[in-house]
Amino acid sequence: ALVTTRQLLLDAQAGGYAVGAFNVENMEMVQAVVTAAEKLKSPVIMQTTPSTVKYADLAYFYANVKTAAEMASVPVVMHLDHGNSFELAMRALRTGYTSIMIDGSHESFEDNIAVTRAVVDACHPSEIPVEAELGKVGGKEDDLEGGEGNPYTDPEEARQFVEATGIDSLAVAIGTAHGVYKGTPKLDMERISEIRKVVSIPLVLHGTSGVPDDAVRECIRRGMCKVNYATDLRIAYSKGINKVLSEHPDTIDPKKYNAQGREEVMQYVMSKIKVCGSEGKA
Ligand code: 13P
Ligand code: ZN
Ligand code: NA
Repeated sequence: ALVTTRQLLLDAQAGGYAVGAFNVENMEMVQAVVTAAEKLKSPVIMQTTPSTVKYADLAYFYANVKTAAEMASVPVVMHLDHGNSFELAMRALRTGYTSIMIDGSHESFEDNIAVTRAVVDACHPSEIPVEAELGKVGGKEDDLEGGEGNPYTDPEEARQFVEATGIDSLAVAIGTAHGVYKGTPKLDMERISEIRKVVSIPLVLHGTSGVPDDAVRECIRRGMCKVNYATDLRIAYSKGINKVLSEHPDTIDPKKYNAQGREEVMQYVMSKIKVCGSEGKA
């Protein structure tokens, strides 16, 4: 069934696990994610970024995920990832998305609060939960370049931000970055615990592709309840397509190579659902 993130993330927080949030870019990726969740009896979040919903309208992704959710026995969420304007957040809300992120982390603290508060006020009457971000997760996120300088989330600012906005979950910067890493990322684990001490809502880990599984598990142990994977799904999908087209360059049926992309993504997502600890929680 299609559900919101509210109870899923509160259950995860109480249970000491996380729910995986996987970025999808086409029907096959939606099928791959929902099949992985179904096999492992896990709740799952599917999400799309602004550049994805620019490629094809929100309504296409909503229709795919809604269909997947209705056919599934596990809870499925359709989430807007890194919503970059009040307007886009409202369009996602009207389309039927069941969870909304507004990312004002590139704005000043005050402007981030203002846009986040506005989205919360618009979403909460329909009981749609809102995720926001404080501090800057580096790397290339969607079309935006991550910030420089000291981007880590300050615990006291996080406390004020959550209180001022009324959000349901908070994305925090602790050293992860979007995209692939050159070396092993250096994560500030202690910071998660410090934030968790003063912030009671579920925390969200971004930029998880390329983070070693053990580090992800420690992040979850310290309070991360939603864990975002995007880049590695793109890599897995493309790997599947390349495999078919390099072995059989004369393939003309898109189903042939897309099916292999879908298979690779499903295997990847199954492995990450296990890392999140949400297997059997649906
Ligand atoms: P990665 O692309 O590094 O997995 O980051 C995913 C993410 O944070 C989506 O919001
Ligand atoms: Zn992100
Ligand atoms: Na990453």
